[in-house]
Parts: sequence; structure tokens; C-alpha cells
Amino acid sequence: MKIAVIGTGYVGLVSGVCWAELGNDVTCVDKLQSKIDQLNSGEVPIYEPGLEQMMNANRAAGRLRFTSNLAEAVQTAELIVIAVGTPSLPSGEANLAFIRQAAEEIGQGLAGYAIVVTKSTVPVGTNERVAAWIGAHTSQPFDVASVPEFLREGSAVRDTLHPDRIIIGTDSDRAAAALEALHRPLTSQIVRTDIRSAEMIKYASNAFLATKISFINEIANLCEKVGANVEEVASGMGLDQRIGGYFLRAGIGYGGSCFPKDTQALIQIAGDVAYDFKLLKSVVEVNQLQRRSVLDKLAASLGDLNGKTVGLWGLAFKPGTDDVRESPAADIMAALLEAGALLKVYDPIAMANFKRMFYSDAGANEDIIWCEEQWEAVTGSDALCLLTEWDTFVQADLQRIESLLRGSVFIDGRNAFRLEQVAATGLRYFSVGRPVQRDSHSETMA
Ligand code: UDX
Repeated sequence: MKIAVIGTGYVGLVSGVCWAELGNDVTCVDKLQSKIDQLNSGEVPIYEPGLEQMMNANRAAGRLRFTSNLAEAVQTAELIVIAVGTPSLPSGEANLAFIRQAAEEIGQGLAGYAIVVTKSTVPVGTNERVAAWIGAHTSQPFDVASVPEFLREGSAVRDTLHPDRIIIGTDSDRAAAALEALHRPLTSQIVRTDIRSAEMIKYASNAFLATKISFINEIANLCEKVGANVEEVASGMGLDQRIGGYFLRAGIGYGGSCFPKDTQALIQIAGDVAYDFKLLKSVVEVNQLQRRSVLDKLAASLGDLNGKTVGLWGLAFKPGTDDVRESPAADIMAALLEAGALLKVYDPIAMANFKRMFYSDAGANEDIIWCEEQWEAVTGSDALCLLTEWDTFVQADLQRIESLLRGSVFIDGRNAFRLEQVAATGLRYFSVGRPVQRDSHSETMA
């Protein structure tokens, strides 16, 4: 199939590369010429395991190309995919400006029948607006469909090539048949539905996963008070097939480009139709509070944080990505600086992005030391906090942490270490929802 993908962010780039891998002829379009130049030189602008190699293999095979010329790409395409960003407006509502612009330019470029798919996460009813925006600029026939994307950063290629399901929301049998044929090599779980339900499936899925995370984080907080172990609880719960074991890892809360944005957007969507989505509002609030738990544990173990040196391991919102959007680390760092702490931070991949996004004038901030390697963040610190469970941290030698720290407090925000491992050291170890190791004050974090 001849496909034009508009937008070369995570969703657009990974989808385009994977469709080329399946043998389709793919043109990826982006307005940003510098990005197109970078892609044409064989370089992927994001950190995503396996993507660059697959992209270059498909470029070499002549099935994949990059351009900033949308009109030309659209003219010959049988399928046009909109995968541009839908950032949040201050109200939490999704900003559809990029979608609208793409739709209008598609309308201007259409030279014959095409299917226009929206992959960006968009509020219910948006695809109908997309049809109107395109229709205002063309007399050519076209169909629209919503095919939401469920890929995760860090495993985007695998998720795209092995999806749990494909959702096709369209009123057109012709478009549905073509889209089913395109996705059939990936899975037999193809669900055909109406456009509005497809749009809602995406929001509902992300909101439900966020709910699972906030739920287990609250259970973890309770476990700390009653002396239970959240990992035992989660695995006991997860064996019930109605619950399932995934997304029950307690920690410092979810971040990233999707859950925070999509939960806010769904709250806003509900508000627009006078529905108060109480549960989801609580999910968001719990997630915000969970970030504070690191500070509470530090304050409980170190006392006043003013003048204390705290080492931070991990800035990305999760391992396997250099994405720092809505990363819990940003809030935690800001609160620690506010409390007067001196920070020594390190992330194996996300450091540059983090500095650019949150501390672009950080050259001047003398309270942050951006470390060259992970042990520098530990050396001489009063406490170490693990915020992202990168392998290099999870596999770290606990004895070495103990010997390099000035103090002995280790806050593990991701439950990255087994309690038995830590018990063999002299570290005062605080994790999430598990018994405290060697706390001089109490057995559990009361
Ligand atoms: C998510 C959805 O999983 C994906 O389907 C959607 O398309 C985009 O949003 P992503 O943001 O890449 O993907 O990351 P994900 O692996 O889902 O993790 C999101 C956040 O939740 C991370 O901050 C992670 O640390 C946190 N998380 C995840 C937990 O705290 N506990 C868990 O059990 C799982």
C-alpha cells in the first residue's frame, strides 16, 4: 500500500518505519526541515531501541523516504495518516491546531480517493471535524478512520509489530477493508467499530492504566503503614485474571507524554458534557502526591533538607527512553531545590533533554551538579534516590553505594532492589510499599 504519514514524532515515525518493514511504500512528512534532513541522513532524532537500524534498512530497500513536501506525498498516497502532536492547552484540553492544519493541507493536496486515518490521540468527535476540514478544501472522494496507537516508548517497535489489538473506527466499509488488510499481518485481533468509540477506546485505555498505577500506589502507601509488602500484594492480586498482573508496579507515579496529558484531556472531555469524572480526578491527584513521597521519606530520614546533598539516579520518566516530559524527577528536583538541598544528578540517556527542558539556564544554578557518571552522584551525598529503574542502576553494587555515600540513606522510588539484597548492607533503605530496612526510628514508615 502507498502510505503518507504526517508527523515524525514517536507515533508517526515508528508506524511509518514498521509499515515499510511490512513491505508497504511509505513517505513520512514533517514540517521541520531540520528533522527531515536528520532522518534523510539516517539518524533517528529520538532514543528508541531498534528503530534506527530498521529505518535505515527500509530506506536502503527503497520503501521509506522523508520529505517536508506534504502536498506531493499526499497526491499519490492511498492511505494518509495523521500523526501530529496534540499538546495540552492550559485547560487540559487537547490542542487540535496541528491536526486541523494537517487536515486542511491534505484537502488541498488530494488528487483522487484516499483513506485518511487519525492516529494522534484526539477528543471524541475530532475525526468528524477532520472530515469537515478536509472536505472544505477538496471535491475528491475520501474516507476517514480512527486507528488509535497504543505503542509504549522504549518498546515502540515491538509494540507496533506485535500489538494486542488494532482498533479501526470508521463508517466506511471500503476503508475498513483496506485497513484490515494492512494490519492483518500484525494480529488477528482487529476490532471494527464506529469512529467515536474508537476515539474513546484510546482515552479509556490510558485512563484505566493510569488508574491501575494510582491504585497500586495508594495500596503501597497503606502497606507502609500496616507493615505489608506491596509486591506480595500486587502479585497476589495480579493472578486473578480479572485483575491481571500488568501495571501494578508501585513507584513514584506515572509520567511521560501520554498518561498525564490524556487523563487531563479525558477529565476535560467529561467536563465539556457536564460530567464530573471524579475517579479520574483522584487518579491524577494521587499521582501528583506520589511524587512527594520521595521528599517525605528523605525528610523523615535526614531531617531538615536545607544544606543536605542528595544524589539522584534517573531523570527519564521511565527506562529505555530519553523522554523527560512530565517526568516525576522534574517535580522532585524542584521540590528538593526549594527545600535547600544540593543535588548531584545522573541519567545515562536523558540528561541533555532534561537540562534543555527544565534547566536551560542551569549553567547558573550552583545547587545542581550534572554528573559525568553514576557514581559521582553517590560520592559524598547524604542520601541517594533512585527515580528511574535503568539497568545500570538496578545492577549497581549496593556495597559500593554504601561505601561512597557520606550518609546511609537510600530511597528506592522504583523498588529496583530485592529486600534480601539490601538487608546484607548497612544502608537505611526506603522503597515504596515495602518494609523499611534498618530504619533507626521505626520498623515501618508510619
Ligand atoms: C503509555 C501507554 O502504555 C501506551 O499504550 C500509550 O500509547 C502511550 O502511553 P508510555 O508513556 O510510553 O506508554 O509508557 P508506559 O510504559 O505505559 O509507562 C508510563 C508511566 O507509568 C511511566 O512513568 C512508568 O514508570 C509508570 N508505570 C508503569 C508505573 O509507575 N507502574 C507500572 O506498573 C507501569
